[in-house]
Amino acid sequence: MSTNRLIVSADQGKTKISRHIYGHFAEHLGRCIYEGLWVGPESPIPNTRGFRNDVVAALRALNMPNLRWPGGCFADTYHWTDGVGPREKRPSILNVHWGGTLENNHCGTHEFLDLCEQLSTPTNVCEPYICGNVGSGTVQEMAQWLEYLTMPGQSPMADLRRRNGREQAWPIKYWAVGNENWGCGGNMRAEYYADLYRQYSSYCRNYTPGSKLYKVACGHGFDWNETVLKIAGEFMDGLSLHHYVVPGSGPSKGSATDFTRQEWVTTMQRAWGLRWFLGRNENIMDRYDPDRRIGMIVDEWGTWFDVEPGTNPGHLYQQNTMRDALVASLSLDVFNNLAHRVHMANIAQTVNVLQAMVLTDTSRMLLTPTYHVFEMFKVHQDATLLPSILECPEFGPGAPVLSASVSRDKAGKTHISLSNLQDEDGTEIACELRHLTFGSVTGRLLTSPRMNTSNTFDRPDAIAPTAFVGVRRTSDGLVVSLPPRSVVMLELV
Ligand code: AHR
Repeated sequence: MSTNRLIVSADQGKTKISRHIYGHFAEHLGRCIYEGLWVGPESPIPNTRGFRNDVVAALRALNMPNLRWPGGCFADTYHWTDGVGPREKRPSILNVHWGGTLENNHCGTHEFLDLCEQLSTPTNVCEPYICGNVGSGTVQEMAQWLEYLTMPGQSPMADLRRRNGREQAWPIKYWAVGNENWGCGGNMRAEYYADLYRQYSSYCRNYTPGSKLYKVACGHGFDWNETVLKIAGEFMDGLSLHHYVVPGSGPSKGSATDFTRQEWVTTMQRAWGLRWFLGRNENIMDRYDPDRRIGMIVDEWGTWFDVEPGTNPGHLYQQNTMRDALVASLSLDVFNNLAHRVHMANIAQTVNVLQAMVLTDTSRMLLTPTYHVFEMFKVHQDATLLPSILECPEFGPGAPVLSASVSRDKAGKTHISLSNLQDEDGTEIACELRHLTFGSVTGRLLTSPRMNTSNTFDRPDAIAPTAFVGVRRTSDGLVVSLPPRSVVMLELV
């Protein structure tokens, strides 16, 4: 008999898992935008209007629902007018937060929005999610950016956009008023930011007829969030929350690949801290917004390790193993299971920075284990959450053995994501599927030969999904055998 149990109530599905939970984040940081995505139209690396074809094709396969840009901390130093108009005339800027790198502004507003269009597919729109500058900008600058972007008729900013080569306004739906304004975005106090939020957001207009602008306020710790909700809650649609998983302490965050068993356990334990963090924030939000109008926007999350040896410490370039894949799968399960409050989440970051989907080395590219989790989990996007109860022991303090979430898509297929978070031991789970009838069950598996294996440019497919056969039917559901450090996605039809 298995000690692990998942009880699914298939007749109780009420909440839609927003596809925006599967969002991404690309900051002007290190080699994320420049090199990772943008190589310029003259590059020998195959590209479409400056964006590399290999990376765009890989990301399109994820059904990316949105892309957050231009930061992060960078956003509160960014002046959008530097990044429009003829490229050769754009000023260079110093990226003060991230390695003091000089940037030529060749990837600006028009290019970013072209990227979102390139990342969209006939069945999926990649929505831009732009973060405006509160820390070092002005109300007028932010208001004019939105006028430039969204005004379909005649206006000074719309005319400037046309002179810069774009006739049509862009459909902008998601807008953040500053980033981490308690820290890199201006070192503000909560009361001060809340008042600024009220002021800035009053001038954040979407000129697209019939279209609403979903405005996101900067969140932080519990006291900050309480203050901001109290003062400015009525003016916001979302509250931004950030949650990073750092296994180390002091100056060392720990290596991305050269880690011990203990660091594995600590990583899983801290990753589970997300559930606690969101749960406490949910209690606060319920007090100020009992109707759940305001969404949690977890617009930065993921692992944060020491940079790869020999790389610029300000560029946050790290490798990725099955440990990252499991942090991703358990976090996505947490978001799915809190879909009544979590409206959006954006893993940090898309290419070559922190817990990336894709790593590049000049013309070469690889997909990380985290990429594969996003690809496997895309079946949960916009599906109905089926409530489930997971019973399992811990394999380390605060680190349960398993994570899970369950959904049913529009075609009636049920998907069960199961992760075995243990580094060394396999395990079995009995799934009791109440009110669920199905004809067949198939599965996909992601696991790794060793705890710290990663995909490298020489062995880019060391970790990749395979068919899963470790499932059998029982009178009331399924029994699933999970290898150590594994993610399984089951499909019941
Ligand atoms: O994602 C890296 C940085 O982490 C972001 O720029 C900032 O918002 C956060 O502190």
